Amino acid sequence: MDTSIIFTLFENLPRQGPGSAACTRKMFTNVPGLPEHPAILDVGCGSGMQTIDLARLSPKARITPVDIHAPYLADIRTRAEAAGVAEHISPVQASMDGLPFKAGSFDLLWAEGSIFVIGVERGLCAWKKIIRPGGFFAFTEAVWFTDTPSPDVATFWQENYPDIKDVAGIRTIAETAGYSWITSFPLPASAWWDDYYTPIIARLPALEKKYRNHAEAQEILAGMKREIRIFREYPDEYGYQFILLKNGT
Ligand SMILES: C[S@@+](CC[C@H](N)C(=O)[O-])C[C@H]1O[C@@H](n2cnc3c(N)ncnc32)[C@H](O)[C@@H]1O
Repeated sequence: MDTSIIFTLFENLPRQGPGSAACTRKMFTNVPGLPEHPAILDVGCGSGMQTIDLARLSPKARITPVDIHAPYLADIRTRAEAAGVAEHISPVQASMDGLPFKAGSFDLLWAEGSIFVIGVERGLCAWKKIIRPGGFFAFTEAVWFTDTPSPDVATFWQENYPDIKDVAGIRTIAETAGYSWITSFPLPASAWWDDYYTPIIARLPALEKKYRNHAEAQEILAGMKREIRIFREYPDEYGYQFILLKNGT
C-alpha cells in the first residue's frame, strides 16, 4: 500500500487521531510529582496538537515530539512558533520502533493515538527503559466498551486491528511489563468528531476528486468513510481510553 496517500489525507488537519485539548489537560493534571523542568517525550506526535497543549500546561518543560513523517514535524514548528512555545519544543524525526534516546531520559512519555502502530505490549516494553524509574507514561488506545459488539463493529475491528482489547486487558499487560496503574478515562465522542472526523469529512470530497483514477487511494478513502460510519452508528461499543501509568511499582 502507498502510505504516502494516508499521510496526505491527514496533513494539515488539527490532529491525526481522536483526542482533544480538554482530554490532554485532564490527563496531564493527573500526573503526580513531575520535576520543575520535566523532560517529556511525545511519541507519534503527528502535527502536534497535544504537543502544543503540553507546552502550555507545563511551561518549563523540555518537550521532544517524535514522528516518522517529516511534514508533521514542520507543522509542529510552525504551530509552536505561533503559540510562542517553540523554545521548549525540539522535534525529532525517528521511528517509534527504534527511539534514539538514552535510558531514563524522560520524566513523562506521552503517546496519543500512536502506540497501536507497534502494539501496546511492544510499546510498553520497548519504551520503558527511556522513562526514568518512577516516571510516567500517558497514552490513548482503542478499547472495547462491550463484550458483545455488533457484527458490523466486530468485523471492522477484526479486519483493521484485531489486537484491540478491553481496559482490563491493557491493565494486565501494563502491570506485567512492570508499570503501576494510576488512572484512566474514556475519551468522549466529541474527541473523535471535533478535531478529527469532522475536518476529515470536510476534506473527503476534494480528495475523492483528486484521486478519482487512483484505485489504491479510493480504497483508503472508502475505508476512512467506513470507519467514520461505524463510529457514528456504534459509539458506545468501543472508543479510546486515556491511560496513565507509573514506571515501576
Ligand atoms: C493516529 S496518529 C496520532 C497523531 C497525534 N498524536 C494525534 O493524536 O493527533 C499516529 C502518528 O504516528 C505516526 N507514526 C506512524 N508510524 C510511525 C513510526 N513507525 N514511528 C514514529 N511515528 C509513526 C504517524 O505519522 C502519525 O503522526
